[in-house]
Order: sequence, then structure tokens, then C-alpha cells
Amino acid sequence: MERILTATDENIKKGAKILKEGGLVAFPTETVYGLGANVFLPEAVARIFEVKGRPRFDPLIVHISRHGMVSRLFREIPPLAEMLMEKFWPGPLTLVLPKKEEVPDIVTAGLSTVAVRMPAHPVALKLIDWADVPVAAPSANRFGHLSPTQAEEVALDLGEGVDLILDGGKTEIGVESTIIMIEEGKVFLLRPGGLSIEEIEKWVGKIETPPSSPKVLSPGTLKKHYAPRIPLYLFEGKIEELLLCDLSGIAIVSPFPIADSREEIKVLSEKGDIREVASNLFSVLRELEEGPFRAIISLTVEEKGLGRAIMDRLKRASSGYARVRKGKLVF
Ligand code: TXA
Ligand code: MG
Repeated sequence: MERILTATDENIKKGAKILKEGGLVAFPTETVYGLGANVFLPEAVARIFEVKGRPRFDPLIVHISRHGMVSRLFREIPPLAEMLMEKFWPGPLTLVLPKKEEVPDIVTAGLSTVAVRMPAHPVALKLIDWADVPVAAPSANRFGHLSPTQAEEVALDLGEGVDLILDGGKTEIGVESTIIMIEEGKVFLLRPGGLSIEEIEKWVGKIETPPSSPKVLSPGTLKKHYAPRIPLYLFEGKIEELLLCDLSGIAIVSPFPIADSREEIKVLSEKGDIREVASNLFSVLRELEEGPFRAIISLTVEEKGLGRAIMDRLKRASSGYARVRKGKLVF
């Protein structure tokens, strides 16, 4: 049965023991909650896929707590990667590089590369350190659903499949890590996330989008993902026109404050802070899918800095665009 325990040192130690013995522990990171297993126990890793309902072709991110652990995962570390680890770890940056043979295929879905990051959260770092093993952990949600930013959301989504949920409160960043791949001295973006591309580019120059190839580079970055259980539509038109429409049964998500205080309008950051927008995004969508609404319309943000990750998640969550035609809402 799943248990939610406050992430005290004593309970983190319990979690570390469970991981060592092949169990599953959900834990907070600075981005979202992860569902962890000992990376070197393929049967434990297999349970992650079962509990999440995640297809086996979707590889996992491996979490480490100290730089020394990386040598158990990556075959070699190019200077560019070394520098990025130095600059941005611990933090919301995941690096994809060729893997060592010891990394089980189930972790990487048979790919020859492995994704690794060092989370900037004391609970995650202690848990991994005390388990003394790298921890494979996808976001702790049912496959395709919104990532959890609070312990109770993990329990709701995954229930009894998890041996222990460590409650470390709401996660700070709220969107997942930025994933990049380094190949032949070039840096490719696989998923925008909590660390902005602009920040990374200060150190490595221009980041490229991966060349399109028949082999999917990041299989888990599926088009439809991170979705609430009711349809979500994006809106880029004039807000005044939208607000004049019949909005019965519809919730509106506005990243920033707007001059309308209807209850069904949810503002993600009253003080207009993009970091707060990211941090509240998934939890507000989860709250709205509980009802009483039949659809959500979300206003958009500019696609720069953290806004890029926010728009990436919103687009994947959405079923398309909402528009106003002759005073009426059309989807
Ligand atoms: O912030 C985060 O990254 C969170 C926390 C828990 O650390 N984790 C997370 O994991 O978002 P997940 O499994 O929900 O997303 C992992 C993504 C997937 O899209 C997967 O396809 C990609 O990482 N990925 C993993 N290994 C890869 C590899 N070897 N090559 C390319 N993409 C990979
Ligand atoms: Mg996920």
C-alpha cells in the first residue's frame, strides 16, 4: 500500500532502504515529483513502467546526487558536457550521452544513450545519496497525464503501486527539466524545460534542434502529453472579445492578471512572475479537471526563457485553438 510520509531524514532513510531493496519511491525534485527505482535493478525499473502505464519505448531519466556517480552511467564525458555539469548541476538540466554497457536496456528503452541529471532538491539528493545508487525516475504521474507538483497528486495518480511517497511540499519550478543531447561537439535541444535555452547558450553558443530522422530522438516527447482529463484549448485572440462570449462550463487560465474577477478565471501569477506561472501551471490544470468544467481555455505566454517550456507543455496538453467568430466561441 502506498504511504505518504513527510520527508524527514528518518523517512528519507526508509526510502533509501526501499530503493536498495528494489522498491519504488516517489520523491520531490525542484521540477516535479519523480517515481524512482534503483537503476541497476531491471525488475524494479520494469515496475515503474507498469505503475505509470508507460510504454516501454519511452526511456527514463537517471538521477544522481554527486558528480562521481556519472562515471557509472556515461561512457565518456566530452568537455562541453563537463562544463555544463559544472555550471548547472544540481539543477533542471538533463544531459543525454552514450551509455555504459552496465546501464540496463529497460532504462534507456534500448537506446545507446542515457539521460542523466542531478536534481537541486535536498530530499532528492539525500535519498539518492543514502541509497548510494543512481535512481531512474520519470515524473510520478499516469502516462500522458499532468506531472505532479505535490505529493497528494502522486497518490491520486499512482495509488497503491508506489511503496513510499516522500512529501516535500510543492515543487518550486513546476515544469520538467530541459533535456539536451551532445553529439560531435554540437548541442541539441530535446525538450525545453526549467532551465532556459538562453541561459545554456551563454556557455555553449547556439543550441540546435535535432535533425529530423525516422528514429525518434526523444520518444517520450510525444505530441500529445501532459494533458488534463478535460479538453484544453489555447487562445491567442483579443481577451475582451473572449470575455464577452458565453463561457458557461468553461474555465479560463490566464498566466497573468486580467481585468475580470469571475471565479472561473484562474490567474497563475497575480504578481506577473513567469516563474510562478510555471510553478502553478500543472496544479491549477489538475484542480480544474476535477470540475465542474467541461473545457479549459488557456491564454498563452511569449515563447522565450521559461515561457518556452510553459508553451511546450500547454501545446502538448491542448486539443487545438479556441477562437471568437461573430461573438461566439468556436473550437
Ligand atoms: O524534471 C524532470 O526531468 C522530471 C524529474 C522527475 O526529474 N523527470 C521527467 O521524466 O520529466 P519523464 O520520464 O517524464 O521524461 C523524460 C524524458 C522523456 O521524454 C524521454 O523520452 C526522454 O526524457 N529521454 C530519456 N532518456 C532519453 C534518451 N536516452 N534519449 C533521448 N531522450 C530521452
Ligand atoms: Mg513525464
